[in-house]
Amino acid sequence: MATRAGSPPASGPYAKLLADDLKRAAAEKALELVQDGMLVGLGSGTTARFFTEGLGRLVAEGMKVRGVPSSRDTAELAAELGIPIVTELLGPIDLAVDGADEVDPGLNLIKGRGGALFREKLVAAASKRFVVLVDESKLVQRLGVGVLPVEVLPFLWRTTAERLAALGVSLVVRGGEETPFITDNGNLILDLTVEGGITKPADFGAELKKVTGVVEHGLFVAMTDTVIVAGPDGPRAMGRTSVS
Ligand code: 5RP
Repeated sequence: MATRAGSPPASGPYAKLLADDLKRAAAEKALELVQDGMLVGLGSGTTARFFTEGLGRLVAEGMKVRGVPSSRDTAELAAELGIPIVTELLGPIDLAVDGADEVDPGLNLIKGRGGALFREKLVAAASKRFVVLVDESKLVQRLGVGVLPVEVLPFLWRTTAERLAALGVSLVVRGGEETPFITDNGNLILDLTVEGGITKPADFGAELKKVTGVVEHGLFVAMTDTVIVAGPDGPRAMGRTSVS
């Protein structure tokens, strides 16, 4: 199971139950977008899990959909729920639904604190509509309040880390150097701290992609169509709000 980075500590079983109810309500809202015959991208993390579970219920009720899982954990869950799984695409994914760690007012994201950012980005990039489920605590004015996960090749990773540090960030290896977290793709995650936040996410993302040894980063810029925010007054949608 992934080591999470930068998440607030849970404050007791009641708070968790409440948070789960809100996440479930947001997931139910996203399930309204699912139509028979769709190919559906399945995100990773605790919020996306509620969506996948809901999709399993629809399949059990007879709906014909197939899922593209964004992590091994999600693939296992989908298989347990009887959701037919697709891992090779011949066309676009109709709808992808995932969680996020931070969302800015332009619906740009930081993802990957659960460690699945690379496959999550592949799924989102292949989708006609990308829907993100979060609670209000994930809404930020500027990305970079917490860490920005960057997936790097283990081979000569220290030199990659030096090139990243030269961009003016501080960083740590997820899990620590003794017992590093390994992604589903066999890579490491470096968690970057950007002092003052990320002022230009698109430019910073492009800089990160140019660093040799970087496989992918957790900035999702201009990819999100809809954000469903779970709150005590019920879920509310930002961005493209139509149900078709
Ligand atoms: C995993 C992710 C998750 O979607 C993100 O960390 C949010 O997770 P959660 O819904 O558990 O808060 O990007 O790589």
